[in-house]
Amino acid sequence: MSQIEPRPPETRPEDHGLVGRSEAFLQAWELVKQVAPTQITVLITGESGTGKDMIARALHAMSPRREKPLLNVNCGAIPEGLLESELFGHEKGSFTGATDSRRGYFEMADGGTLFLDEIGELPLATQVKLLRVLETMEFMRVGGSRLQRVDVRVIAATNKDLDSAVSRGEFRRDLFYRLNAVKIRVPSLRERRTDIRDLALRFTDAVCRTNRIPFEGFTEDAFELLESYSWPGNVREMRNVIERVIVLEKGQRIDRARLESHLGEGLDFERNLPVITHKSSEQAERELLVRALLDIRMAIEEIRRLLVRGSGPRAPLTPVPPEQAPVVETLSRDFNLEELEKQQIERAIDRFAGNRRKAAKALGIGERTLYRKLKEYGIE
Ligand SMILES: Nc1ncnc2c1ncn2[C@@H]1O[C@H](COP(=O)(O)OP(=O)(O)OP(=O)(O)O)[C@@H](O)[C@H]1O
Ligand SMILES: [Mg+2]
Repeated sequence: MSQIEPRPPETRPEDHGLVGRSEAFLQAWELVKQVAPTQITVLITGESGTGKDMIARALHAMSPRREKPLLNVNCGAIPEGLLESELFGHEKGSFTGATDSRRGYFEMADGGTLFLDEIGELPLATQVKLLRVLETMEFMRVGGSRLQRVDVRVIAATNKDLDSAVSRGEFRRDLFYRLNAVKIRVPSLRERRTDIRDLALRFTDAVCRTNRIPFEGFTEDAFELLESYSWPGNVREMRNVIERVIVLEKGQRIDRARLESHLGEGLDFERNLPVITHKSSEQAERELLVRALLDIRMAIEEIRRLLVRGSGPRAPLTPVPPEQAPVVETLSRDFNLEELEKQQIERAIDRFAGNRRKAAKALGIGERTLYRKLKEYGIE
């Protein structure tokens, strides 16, 4: 009797719960289809909320390993001291608290796929070990002396700019090359605006069904706003907005004004940008920055005028706490934009204690742009 061939996996995005017909999305999807059946290590990049987890699941589901486990490990969520024993397992008594021997994720994922999310958070020491394992598929448990052999396909993901992490010496170049064998970049929602309506309808449908809300629908101008908003939090943000607006407005028809009151920080960004732009996002960001600086300059002139006018018999001045002190104090009449930009960046970095993601957000620029500028200005 001939053996029945297993049914080939479905290969359309919708077979994997993904909405996407835009060119940018389909381009990424082509690569997903191509590499899914292979053993090759894949690095998935993309901003937060773009769908990296979903892509990793689709890669596994379209691979010959689909009947075997897919393990999702968030490298940023495991305390540094436990990482190695979590990944590679440990033997009884190998450290305080190791009362039993335990298999690590590599052993648990044997035959299947290991999804290493937030790979950029991996400490350098663990990076060395991971590279060795990727190359040989052999390792020892912590405190062990027996070589373990596994057959695991690794998919990694990051929303960090690993290139610049490499140039800063925070991520090993050799591991980067190894992981980067195939890179799938999941586009931001801004780069795939033609998918926004489909996504809106998908999320609308889901929220109405689960909450049993009859929904009167979006007006055309609300759809247009959805399509022109900048979605800094990408698909995740959009899903949250749609859920919120439908639930809080109790299923009433949503027009532009109503929707606008539920949109977040991306709105200011969008107001300052032409909706259809032929400019690169970098150019657009630069323009935005310059506009913000001009606004500051106007505010300074205004303050100066007020000070001069109000200083008659000496208006009482309340001291401003340093963290609230405006940019004004550092400006001279002949300030230059670059100097000002540099100062703003230094302040943001200080204020958020070196957290670049938060600093970039506060500055209203992309994290990657911030990295570049830090390098450009030689800011540590
Ligand atoms: N193409 C898509 N179609 C439908 N839903 C999507 C799509 N992409 C993302 N989503 C939804 O958006 C949310 C975020 O997706 P996901 O968790 O995969 O993003 P991520 O890139 O891994 O985010 P993070 O960087 O924060 O880990 C999820 O609720 C997911 O269901
Ligand atoms: Mg994720």
